[in-house]
Amino acid sequence: MSSLAAESQPTPSAVSKGLEGVVAAHTRLSDVRGDIGQLIYCGYDINELAGKVSYEEVVHLLFHNHLPNARELAELKKILAGYRELPQGVVDIITRFPKSCPPMHALRTGVSALGCYDTTADDDSMDAQRRKALRLIAQVPVLTAYFHRARQGLPLVAPDANLGEAANFLWMINGSQPSSEMTNTMDVCYVLHADHGMNASTFSARVTIATLSDMYSAITTAIGTLKGPLHGGANEGVIKMLQEIGSLEKVDAFIEGELLNKRKIMGIGHRVYKVLDPRAPHLKRMAQLLSAQLGDPRWIQMSERIASLMLEKKGLHANVDFYSATVYYSLGLPTDLFTPIFAIARTAGWTAHVLEQLADNRLIRPQSVYTGQAGLKWTPVADR
Ligand SMILES: CC(C)(COP(=O)(O)OP(=O)(O)OC[C@H]1O[C@@H](n2cnc3c(N)ncnc32)[C@H](O)[C@@H]1OP(=O)(O)O)[C@@H](O)C(=O)NCCC(=O)NCCS
Repeated sequence: MSSLAAESQPTPSAVSKGLEGVVAAHTRLSDVRGDIGQLIYCGYDINELAGKVSYEEVVHLLFHNHLPNARELAELKKILAGYRELPQGVVDIITRFPKSCPPMHALRTGVSALGCYDTTADDDSMDAQRRKALRLIAQVPVLTAYFHRARQGLPLVAPDANLGEAANFLWMINGSQPSSEMTNTMDVCYVLHADHGMNASTFSARVTIATLSDMYSAITTAIGTLKGPLHGGANEGVIKMLQEIGSLEKVDAFIEGELLNKRKIMGIGHRVYKVLDPRAPHLKRMAQLLSAQLGDPRWIQMSERIASLMLEKKGLHANVDFYSATVYYSLGLPTDLFTPIFAIARTAGWTAHVLEQLADNRLIRPQSVYTGQAGLKWTPVADR
């Protein structure tokens, strides 16, 4: 090995396992302040936005760096409503998946299929990229709803152009008009999930688009990354855990057992937040309200006990997935749609990051430290 090549090899101490602490990009979209528990979208603290602006306003904020005025908001809503319908070929594909297919698989494959039907899929002009981004924001919920209806053997419900994003999704999965309370809850959830700095799925979307691949490939990558239980898949894990525990009296023994066996408690802990995730109190409040209305306080009581035990025993706080699980459950949504709902909301952040990456692109290509063998000599297959 030449001395030049040897010098270019990274040292083992240069490795940050899980890329912890590595800064991978500049972004004007969102800031995650893990030390003080703050989340900012384009200059606005999340506490300034949650419950005050709609998801569509956040989409506009991420795409244009300012909150829309009434005309801009109406225009965006009209564009999104107009982009909802899927190509028939994609409807045929996603409605024929096996009923047992987990919705995140269906969504990932559905987004990939959308790329096959878009003749501008590889058009790299910024206008075309922006159109594809908005189309995906409008179509990801429709893919989810169509698949969900089809797997139950129910007729598909066409999108309603008079409804906003949150209400239209609830309409399309249930086939009935959602109450304004349900719609508002869902809308706040969308706002809270819309973007979150350089999280794993956003990073994967940026890696994919940085090769100058295409928007559909980037969002397909992101959905596959979100699906894992260490990322967006945790919200499903929370409800499964609560169901397994069953009652408040059993929480302490369950947590003790899990920690003893070195198992992770879903919805707890965060790579960046070392204090409370600022999204959690909003979701906790909604979960408390919904649980009281349902007259079944069991889920929120168990959740609160788990959160306080985990803080006490491990110094770990609840994250976004912890209380969102109870919110979605209380809204009567099926557990396996929790992560797709996260994906629906995060499509705003993913696509905005893709556009931002394209505006100042460089291939993302880290290195690794080789730990394998060296100097081996080839022998013919018969001699091995
Ligand atoms: C989010 C998460 C992946 C962050 O991981 P990370 O920064 O790589 O942290 P690590 O997994 O290395 O954990 C560090 C320590 O905290 C512990 N820990 C972290 N999260 C934990 C959890 N949810 N339950 C129990 N212990 C946990 C680890 O066991 C480890 O302990 P150790 O040092 O004694 O071995 C992790 O907290 C987790 O797996 N949480 C549960 C899944 C989840 O809710 N994901 C959604 C995130 S928004």
